[in-house]
Amino acid sequence: MVNEKIRQFWDERAGLGGIAGSNDFLLKNLELDLLRKRIPENAKILDVGCGNGQTLITLIKEKNCTGVGVDFSPKMVELAKNSAAQENLDAKLKFVEGSLEEIPDVGLFDCIITERSLINLDSEEKQYKAFLGIMNHLKNNGRYYMLESCIDGLERTNELRVSLGLEPMSAPWHNLFFREDAVAKWASKNYFLEELYHFSSTYHLLSRVVYAKLAADKNEELRYDSDINLISCKLPPIGNYGPAKLWQWRKCE
Ligand SMILES: C[S@@+](CC[C@H](N)C(=O)[O-])C[C@H]1O[C@@H](n2cnc3c(N)ncnc32)[C@H](O)[C@@H]1O
Repeated sequence: MVNEKIRQFWDERAGLGGIAGSNDFLLKNLELDLLRKRIPENAKILDVGCGNGQTLITLIKEKNCTGVGVDFSPKMVELAKNSAAQENLDAKLKFVEGSLEEIPDVGLFDCIITERSLINLDSEEKQYKAFLGIMNHLKNNGRYYMLESCIDGLERTNELRVSLGLEPMSAPWHNLFFREDAVAKWASKNYFLEELYHFSSTYHLLSRVVYAKLAADKNEELRYDSDINLISCKLPPIGNYGPAKLWQWRKCE
């Protein structure tokens, strides 16, 4: 059973264009850059929790892939379909209404993506079940790029914030962040964790600690597009700060 309050929340955000999936558009850009570098040309991609479809549309255009996007928000799916039609991508791209709890029968894929979707499920049990459902849609040797959030990275960032006199941050009401050690146990003989990549560590360290402190001291309102935030995205990841991570899974049956 899907959580109707959370579905309504995402339905209401659907019209927000580039920030429908997150107000933090720099984080979204980091995710997109990472996927661009890792997804091979011509891959068949499934995006679960695809939102308004922008990630799939970008990858289909830039890497000649084909894809299916699944989301439980009817408005997100409608907008994704409209965008695909406007870009003349109907032959390569399909958007379907469906849930993480019960992924529709859409076939097998070379690559599967989730971007901050599983964290919308409110127990670790449901998240693990959704993970197994995703793995069932992966071809042998295929990869699952799990871009999700963990509490450990948030806690590490909060330690630094508190040491500078800033308030700790918490996960949004509709999210349950993973525990890194719990996710590591999801590996089995049929799939393994190829890499845990702290891709947004520098961005989180500089934006949520350094910039946040400077802005607080000057009594300035926080901006996602501050100069420090923009520069931080150009640096390689240092450390393991921030909640957003890539868990890269490989199927090996
Ligand atoms: C953080 S947004 C990300 C959207 C898109 N991937 C992006 O990066 O812009 C999470 C998406 O997951 C979808 N979602 C959340 N819970 C879901 C569920 N149980 N089943 C299917 N989709 C879900 C939401 O509707 C939303 O579009």
